[in-house]
Amino acid sequence: MTAKGKLYGIGVGPGDPSLMTLRAFEALQAAHTIAYPVKVRGERSTALDIIRRRVDVSGKDILELEFRMDPSDEVRQACRREAVAELAERLDRGEDIAMITLGDVSVYSTYMRIDRMVRDLGYETEVVPGIPSFCHGAAKAGVPLMIGEEGLAVVSYAKDNPDVANAFEGFDNVVVMKAFNSMGEIASLMERNGFSADDAVVVSNVGMEDEYIGPMDPKRRYGYFTTVIAKKGGF
Ligand SMILES: C[S@@+](CC[C@H](N)C(=O)[O-])C[C@H]1O[C@@H](n2cnc3c(N)ncnc32)[C@H](O)[C@@H]1O
Repeated sequence: MTAKGKLYGIGVGPGDPSLMTLRAFEALQAAHTIAYPVKVRGERSTALDIIRRRVDVSGKDILELEFRMDPSDEVRQACRREAVAELAERLDRGEDIAMITLGDVSVYSTYMRIDRMVRDLGYETEVVPGIPSFCHGAAKAGVPLMIGEEGLAVVSYAKDNPDVANAFEGFDNVVVMKAFNSMGEIASLMERNGFSADDAVVVSNVGMEDEYIGPMDPKRRYGYFTTVIAKKGGF
């Protein structure tokens, strides 16, 4: 009987391939298959672009897995079931699979749901952490996320997400992810909760071309890879 393969969930860091961990690099080199998530079939994968700059993927199977951002929970679950079935088929053939994620695997990534489903089917899995985008952004901006006994709230901007308002009400340090088209709203929340305009830094496309590290500019157009780091009282 063929030994079953193992699934690795790999955080590849936010952009600069030299920030991939050695463990990630080794697992990627050894894997038979590289799986990458997309929202729509045929979409470009930034995580795949990052690893291609360090890992020779020419002899490997590259597997696109579609996870649609459909409002219907049933559709999203069906995508996950389909992805798990594809992964299981390969694991049964004894293939080791590395499923890649931008940044860290535990930060807003589909991978952790897939990991649970695959483990529940009896396969072995391993999570290989990566550097989260807001940590690399803080390093680039030269700012502390928290110091001493301070706390930190990390939230994802979405129109009806009450966590964002709660974070600015309850925390002096706030990271807002998916902030690209919400600068105006974030600025008002800050003002309402005693933050000044200078208390925020925008970190956008960190480690990529067109990296922007600078003040919040409501008139500037930001891409999807944009995060706001705010600290009441300034950095
Ligand atoms: C689906 S989440 C993925 C988070 C990722 N797993 C991490 O550890 O950072 C996507 C959001 O992460 C942030 N992000 C990811 N890569 C980034 C980068 N290179 N620069 C700035 N923000 C980034 C942005 O806020 C983006 O909207």
